[in-house]
Amino acid sequence: MTPILQLANIRKDFAQGGQALHILNGLSLSIGPGEVAALVGPSGSGKTTLLQIAGLLAQPDAGQVWVHGRASEKLGDAERTKLRREKLGFVYQFHHLLPELSAEENVMMPQLIAGRAKAAAANEARRLLALVGLSARLAHRPAELSGGEQQRVAIARALANRPALVLADEPTGNLDPETSASVFSMFRDTLRETGAAALIVTHNHELARSCDRLLRLEHGRIV
Ligand SMILES: Nc1ncnc2c1ncn2[C@@H]1O[C@H](COP(=O)(O)OP(=O)(O)OP(=O)(O)O)[C@@H](O)[C@H]1O
Ligand SMILES: [Mg+2]
Repeated sequence: MTPILQLANIRKDFAQGGQALHILNGLSLSIGPGEVAALVGPSGSGKTTLLQIAGLLAQPDAGQVWVHGRASEKLGDAERTKLRREKLGFVYQFHHLLPELSAEENVMMPQLIAGRAKAAAANEARRLLALVGLSARLAHRPAELSGGEQQRVAIARALANRPALVLADEPTGNLDPETSASVFSMFRDTLRETGAAALIVTHNHELARSCDRLLRLEHGRIV
């Protein structure tokens, strides 16, 4: 089966004060359809850099990225944006919800951008918010939701265009341990329910071990 994400021999350097930092050093990995993988590694090891490259938001200095079997280096800007919009979903440590929109409208937004009709987008938003247990909070704005609830809205939003792959950068990193564990398991179960694959950065090894696969980033490679 074609992997949903494949990285081969990725290198990424950052020049800092005349010195080259080798952050990703010939890194390779492959994620299959529906596979939920956790990514752990020390602070500064390059996890966010890796997600940005996998999400087609940054270019590697060398190596190749395939999303759904398509080689990203051959794509123009418009095609790259289209591939990102159609195949990928993103969840960040701080949810980045739009403050003036309700939970339902926040989950509708990426669908409207992708061209879905308003009524269909609203239906899908309500279905996803029900999956993350927020049916009773549809009209709440982010400021009227708890931290864990805001993060659950962000998870529903990431799934709104039925991505084949969700990239999540410490999606529960700003929550207390108990809320973090419950939001994380809800996230994992929702991914399984929708069949989306995921690469989830987390500092919590217990949560990481509950995924299908545990990837460790060290010295610029997956070990
Ligand atoms: N634009 C940049 N310019 C220079 N150095 C950078 C840049 N972006 C990242 N770095 C460096 O690359 C290294 C990896 O950064 P990255 O954000 O990927 O780490 P991380 O594994 O996500 O860490 P954390 O767990 O703290 O979020 C860091 O040492 C950082 O200083
Ligand atoms: Mg990071």
